[in-house]
Amino acid sequence: MSDPISAELALLEEAMRALAAGFADLPPAERPLDAAAARGALLEAAHRMRDNFPYHHPLYVGQMLKPPHPVARLAYAMAMMVNPNNHALDGGRASSAMEKEAVAQIASMAGFREHLGHLCGGGTMANFEALWVGREQAPGLAVAASAQAHYTHGRLAAVLGVPFRKVAIDADGRMDLAALEELLAAGGIGTVVATLGTTAAGAVDPLPEILALARRFRCRVHVDAAYGGYFTLAASLDPSARRAFDAVAEADSYVVDPHKHGLQPYGCGCVIFKDPSVGRHYRHDSPYTYFSSSELHLGEISLECSRPGAAAVALWATQRLLPLERGGALARGLDDGRAAALDLYETLVRDQRFVPRGRPDLDIVVFAVRARSASESSARARALFDAAAREGLHLALATFPRVMLEAAHPVDRWDSGELVCLRACAMKPEHRAWMPEIVVRLDRAARSLQL
Ligand SMILES: Cc1ncc(COP(=O)(O)O)c(C=O)c1O
Repeated sequence: MSDPISAELALLEEAMRALAAGFADLPPAERPLDAAAARGALLEAAHRMRDNFPYHHPLYVGQMLKPPHPVARLAYAMAMMVNPNNHALDGGRASSAMEKEAVAQIASMAGFREHLGHLCGGGTMANFEALWVGREQAPGLAVAASAQAHYTHGRLAAVLGVPFRKVAIDADGRMDLAALEELLAAGGIGTVVATLGTTAAGAVDPLPEILALARRFRCRVHVDAAYGGYFTLAASLDPSARRAFDAVAEADSYVVDPHKHGLQPYGCGCVIFKDPSVGRHYRHDSPYTYFSSSELHLGEISLECSRPGAAAVALWATQRLLPLERGGALARGLDDGRAAALDLYETLVRDQRFVPRGRPDLDIVVFAVRARSASESSARARALFDAAAREGLHLALATFPRVMLEAAHPVDRWDSGELVCLRACAMKPEHRAWMPEIVVRLDRAARSLQL
């Protein structure tokens, strides 16, 4: 049996030859490749790339990183032969059609009956477009997002020249509804951002209640599900998260990142609008961006100009293999990650040395190291992070406000308003099988510090 690298390369060769056959009637115009020089550059690059944490391996359970599906990277590499650009139909005819199909599948996964949407560089760019459309719909009004929302929302509001208001969070790290109501009653808010899967803790904001409040005060609601969006397919959500995901289609706009849980290479975010007529805000009259068809093309409904057609091809091929359906292989992978996170959470509950922050909404586990004071606990968390890395286990660190940890009693004395905690993103389905090994290494790391 061939090793996985050889198997992938054989598939890539077959796909590249199938694509090349479509252009076989062209006169030859190959550019000669100096194989020795190319090999030198490539192998040097491969050696440089060894200087990385093993993001692709289950013992990496730190930041939001997981390898793309092999089909995604092979489809991407195959498409690079023609390197299409989805800014206009002339630049990427097939890949634009594939983008529309893949985005329609994402919109339908989220529950939208009608939509306007496209791919873009990532979650930040996708949120930017949603907040920009919000500003165009109601100029001058502020953006409100929770204190645990992604940090870029405040920065994006500044770029857009609109005020930004931070909404307090509750003990679960979710948007505090009383605080939101008070803010909305004071007036001046145009868009409320609800996060379904916060970056630090994977908390899911109570979307149905946020929608009800926003409607009462005539605001738009934007759902930032860059991280959590695909969990709508999962079978294992707790009822509060399920209710939130079931309400997504009532929001005005929605963002999900195929380059997080959608198994894509980086450079693949997605923004969806419920009302297709917001496309009018994108209108431009560029004389050099070709309008080769009477049909609305993607360059007319995206802020970016050049966009990688290969990203659309990779996403399309992945969704062809793994349709976005409940009970499908992609959904089961999410459930496996969540099961891994719940296993870790329950192990930590039983371990007197650690204090988990609360039952995870998705697949992210946050835990403090028990200590007398907050500063001592934070120092221990930093030391444990390093000790775990020495054991080959890669976690992440994140700082949380007291309100999100107090109920769990990790410390006797709060000499700081914040606590540095360990964070584990159990994003890979394989984390389920690897969790016992992860726990063994965590224990070894803790013992090495005499915790
Ligand atoms: C909830 C959320 N929103 C937005 C972003 C930003 O996305 P990107 O890094 O793809 O720009 C992230 C990234 O982690 C995120 O978790």
